Parts: sequence; structure tokens; C-alpha cells
Amino acid sequence: MCGIVGYVGSRKAQEVLIKGLSRLEYRGYDSAGVAILEGHKINLVKRQGKLRILTDVLKSEPAKGSIGVGHTRWATHGVPNDVNAHPHLDCASKIAVVHNGIIENYLDLKKTLMKEGHRFSSETDTEVIAHLIEKYYKDDLETAVLKTIRSLKGSYAIAAIHASEPDKVVGARCDSPLIVGVGEGENFLASDVPAVLDYTKNIIYLDNHELITITKKGVTIKDYSGRIIQKNPSKIKWDIKQAEKAGHSHFMLKEIYEQGAVLDGILDERLHDGKVVFEELAIKDNDLKRFTKIAIVACGTAYHAGLTGKYMLEEYARIPCWVDTSSEFRYRDPIVDKNTLVIIISQSGETADSLAALREAKRKGAKTLGICNVVGSSIARESDGVIYTHAGPEIAVASTKAYTAQLAVLYLVTLYLGRLRKVIGSAKFDHIIKEFRRAPALMNSLIDEYRSDYNNIAAYAGEFKKYYFEKHNKSHFLYLGRNINYPNALEGALKLKEISYISAEGYAAGEMKHGPIALIDENPWVVCIAVQSKTYDKMLSNIQEIKARGGIVIAITTEGDEEIMHHNVNYVIELPKIDELFSPLLVVIPLQLLAYYVAKKFGYDIDQPRNLAKSVTVE
Ligand code: F6R
Repeated sequence: MCGIVGYVGSRKAQEVLIKGLSRLEYRGYDSAGVAILEGHKINLVKRQGKLRILTDVLKSEPAKGSIGVGHTRWATHGVPNDVNAHPHLDCASKIAVVHNGIIENYLDLKKTLMKEGHRFSSETDTEVIAHLIEKYYKDDLETAVLKTIRSLKGSYAIAAIHASEPDKVVGARCDSPLIVGVGEGENFLASDVPAVLDYTKNIIYLDNHELITITKKGVTIKDYSGRIIQKNPSKIKWDIKQAEKAGHSHFMLKEIYEQGAVLDGILDERLHDGKVVFEELAIKDNDLKRFTKIAIVACGTAYHAGLTGKYMLEEYARIPCWVDTSSEFRYRDPIVDKNTLVIIISQSGETADSLAALREAKRKGAKTLGICNVVGSSIARESDGVIYTHAGPEIAVASTKAYTAQLAVLYLVTLYLGRLRKVIGSAKFDHIIKEFRRAPALMNSLIDEYRSDYNNIAAYAGEFKKYYFEKHNKSHFLYLGRNINYPNALEGALKLKEISYISAEGYAAGEMKHGPIALIDENPWVVCIAVQSKTYDKMLSNIQEIKARGGIVIAITTEGDEEIMHHNVNYVIELPKIDELFSPLLVVIPLQLLAYYVAKKFGYDIDQPRNLAKSVTVE
């Protein structure tokens, strides 16, 4: 979490840094700050709260200068306030540092530095970096940063400037992302590509243990022994417009609406001449054939995609599969070996627990396959094979289009393995693909229907708000699903709680009688995923049980379902007909929209919910 930016060139650094930070605010928004070199002095401005507070201050007192570093924070060490906001300075206010990550040995370092006379002003781990650079500085910032990072334990992407060297920004990375934007007569450092895309599409992805110096004239990359490393920039194919709201009130809504087009793009890219094609997958077919089991490892929404993947893979590729959250997998000595394919799913490709789980799987000799959205991310680079979801930048903290893109790739992996392992014959394959190909248009038609200003889901959200206040804030949500839509029940609940702060729980409907039924009185609203499926009748029985106890039911059904009307449900959301296998792609859309509209009715900050950040690069 946290976003960092560095700039050197001829533009006003303030403008470049603020624009860059605005593109990185998804990484954290507890505070923001910039340090800009004005001649041989550092002008430091930092404020608690969202970036707009800092921007307002800078508007009234603009910083001059064309070299600087900036930061947007997700607090780890020290409460979010002005003092703990980055950048941090050394004792003489000649060095300014921004940092993303955690310095695990900062307390030991701080004690030693204090004994040596350094004075600290914040509670952060980051401030030790500024003082260490001060300690090691003779007349060369790059050497001082190199010496500093040799004493650090933990994860970091840093960028530093020195008042005596007003021509450069020096950075380094270890387990937190850092990219270089290569411009003409100007260069950039940033945590993620969108921060620099307004200025350049030429990007160098730094690897762990690389030291970087940018000046107006060029970029020098070294390893930690000081050896120069040659790296060529890659050209980014997507446009900054994709990282803008394009007239929508929120990124989340825009990203929900994009899902049909994203799925269409994935199918066009991956289906050729009646075959599934993964050009970038570096794992050979012979290897894929010999795996005896699959472990899927991920966090949050990506974990829910993984759970859905288990249903597909076991049924259509007949390969045993289990799914773990990364934070559990990495610490429990999982039984994986060379016959196991470990699939790591991650939108950002930087989630600390997922990265650690990947490394643990590799250490145990398993083959690893990353399913990532961010090109060149750590998980993509460190996995033995990678499949990109190519969903475009996802900016809203609550994941939507990345989820359906992950599902799409999992369907394709299933079909690929199913064919390879001769579980799916060619006629069945063609039949499944034909149905899959219908999904983008159905998603789009559903989305078109929901685009109207006051659609039924928005209306249900309004009813819920009214009810919630009538019940003195006692109401809550339960989401029930079965079989391949059970993970969607978890995902619906996660979406609601993360952006509307209303208590919500997802459950396998068959488990309701084993506990959650105790929650049902007249208070809960229960979302029942009751689309046509082999467990449809079972779901109807669950609905009866809920209604008998006074619960309020929103049923997600298939169009033309007359049966559901006899069950006294309170609200109905109809979906177009599609084979049960692909129904998760449609079911999740109203779930995402319900969360969106509830948060909107309650007036919350939908794209930047409290306490969360898009990319969780700390444990
Ligand atoms: C929920 C959400 C998170 C992420 C999780 C994993 O809407 O966005 O639960 O899914 O933090 O992130 P990635 O996929 O980047 O590893």
C-alpha cells in the first residue's frame, strides 16, 4: 500500500507529483505529501487526509522547482496525521524520503541512530531511512542510499532527494513495486504505471534489489553490488483514458459497466480456430498433463474467483483442486510438490501474502501459474507461467471487472486442461464454447438495463436504507448461494461490507440450518441466488425457511421463472438464461450493483472506502 512518485525534468514538479498521486490514491489515502527542491532547499508540504486537502494547500502556496518526490499513505506505523505523513526528512532537512512497505528492524535502527544523536519527529518506520542516508552521506546520494538499504530488513520501494544534489532522484525496491517512466528530458519514478502515463508510455519495471538514479538526461540502474544493469523500456499499450472515470460518478460503476466488453476482449484474445490459446503461458503441455492436483491461492475477491475455479476444474477437467487464502497457505506447511500446479490469482500481482505463498510453493518444488491483471507485476514475473486477465486498470478499491476477468481465465484454463486430459471431447468443447461466447452480450444487455438512473436494484437499496433506519440500524445482510454460485454469495457479502460498512455474511445455502438460521428474524435481508440450476429446488426450500421466520428475501432468478413468485419473496432480480456453468458471470453483476447503490444511498465514499487500499503490499 502507499503510492510513491518521483520526478526530475523541466515541468513544475508540484503538478507532476500531484497528478501522479491522484492516479495512485487507490493505494492509500490517509495522508499525502510532497517534497520539492527549490534551489538548494527542500520545500516540504504534507497533510493528513485525502489528496485534495494537500492540493488546496499547494494551490494557495505553490511550490516552485522541477525535482521532487510525493507520497499517498495507507498508515502502518503511526496514526494518520500531518507529522507521520511522508515525505520524511533527516535532522538537517537536506534529505527527503518517501517509502512504500514496512521496515521490520526500524526500532533497532532508530535506537542506534538516536544514540548517535539523530532526532526523530514521527512515529513511522520510514523516518529511519532519511536518518540513515544522512549518516552515510559524504557527497554522493546514490552511495548513501545503497549503504542505507543494506541495513534495512523488510519491504520497500523508496525515492529520495538531497538538497546538495538538485539534479536527481534516487530510488530502490525490495518486495514493493517501483517502475521508471522514461521521458524526453525528464524521468519519473512511481509505484504504478498510471502515475506517469500522462507523460510517457515507456516503462521500465524494476526488479527486487535494484537501485535507480534518474536525472533529466537519463536513467541508471544498478544491483546492490553497484554493477550497472541494462534494461530496455517496454511500451504500454493502454491509454490513460482507461484510468479515468469517463463521465461516470464512480470508478466502481464504470468498472462494473465495462465487464461485458472485458469478457469479449478476453474471449477474442484466447479463442482461436476452436482452441484455447495462452501465448504467454510458459508451462509446457506435457507438464500440465502430469499434475495430479491443483492448489489455488489468493486473497479477498481473487480468492472467491479461485473458489469458483475449483467447481469448474473438478467438474470439467476432473482434477482434484483445493483453494486457500494466501495468508493461511504460506504459514501452514502445505502439501505441494512437483506434481502440484499452484495457481496464484491476483489483480495487482503485488499482494504480499500471495507473493509469499507463491515463493513458498516454489520452494517446495511446485509449478506456479500466476493469473494477474497488472502486467510486469511481481507475481507475474516470479511465477513459472503467467496468464494475464487484460481487464485494463481497475481503480476502485472494490474489485469488480478484475473478478469476472479472473473467472473468464479460469473457465479457459479449465477448458484447456479438460481437452488436454481428454475429459472434454471436441463436440462438448464446441458446445461449451458456444455458450461461453453468449456471455459477453448477455452481460452487456443486463448492464444496459441497469444503466437507467433509477433501476430496480437502486430502488431496493433505497428500501433497505429506509428499513435500516426504521429498525434502529439493526438490519444486516445474509447472502446464500449453492454450488458454483456459492462463492458469489461470499463475494456479494464482501462487496457490500467493504463499501457500505453494513454487516453481511455469505453462506452456502445448505449450511444455513447449521447455524445462520439462528440469525433470521424480521431483521435480516437475505439475498438468495436462485437461478436455474441443479440445486434450484433446494434453494426454494431455503427461501421457504427464511420466509417462515420473517426474513426479507431478494431473489436472483432466471427470467421466466414463475415458480419463485409462489414463494412470497419480497424483491426479484431477473437474469437472462445461460447454462449454470457460466451463471456466476451474470449473477455477480446485480450483487455488485446492490453493494454500489446501498453505499450510494448511505452517502459513503464508494471508490475509497475507509481503512482499505487497493494493493495490500504489507502482511
Ligand atoms: C475486494 C478486494 C480485495 C482484493 C484482495 C486481493 O473488493 O478488492 O479483497 O481482491 O486484496 O487483491 P489482489 O487481487 O490484487 O491480490
